[in-house]
Amino acid sequence: MSEHYILILKASPRRQSNSSLLADQLAAGASAAGAEVESFFLPEMNIRPCDACDVCQGSGDGQCVVQDDMQMLYPKLRRASAIVVATPVYWFTLSAQAKLCIDRWYALETPEGSALRGKKFALLMSYGDSDPYLAGAVNAIRTFQDMCRYLHADLAGMVYGTASQAGEMRQQPDLLEKAYQLGQKLASSSPSLL
Ligand SMILES: Cc1cc2nc3c(=O)[nH]c(=O)nc-3n(C[C@H](O)[C@H](O)[C@H](O)COP(=O)(O)O)c2cc1C
Repeated sequence: MSEHYILILKASPRRQSNSSLLADQLAAGASAAGAEVESFFLPEMNIRPCDACDVCQGSGDGQCVVQDDMQMLYPKLRRASAIVVATPVYWFTLSAQAKLCIDRWYALETPEGSALRGKKFALLMSYGDSDPYLAGAVNAIRTFQDMCRYLHADLAGMVYGTASQAGEMRQQPDLLEKAYQLGQKLASSSPSLL
């Protein structure tokens, strides 16, 4: 078993999506560098919103009472050395599919800090506008930066760019190469001591 387990969460409803293409490149780079990589297609999973019942906080053992596919993802999130979210920009931020999953990480909070503390994170994004500010990609970036700061986690890298129709990202070999290299980086860097 590799010391590096990279969990990729794909959050576009389009199977051959642009953000998925970046994710596949990252996976290829990470695998080539010896990491174990697993990808999940969030839109086909049964993931309900956090209902803020706070049972996970009361018991302190990080158990979410909502019985859905997050129960399968929680151990993988705990185990991962790196967590990658690949999402389109929808309405000037992350897709709802990505946000649903991220909200449920609340259950991993404990009085000693999050179970995600010290992990590496990466963000892969595609958006229609030619400018990341006008596209709203900056809002998703800001969310990730704030999240990593709060979690005491390491935002190890981001790859993002413009594409519209599914698959158009293939016309951006420089971005695909950046995603591949980010995969290699995630597979080789030591777990953060944050
Ligand atoms: C519901 C919806 C909302 C969108 N909102 C934005 C937006 O706010 N800014 C933007 O630049 N593109 C927006 N787009 C375009 C997508 O971000 C773009 O097509 C992107 O390449 C999709 O990535 P994907 O192929 O990974 O799904 C939107 C598309 C949809 C379907």
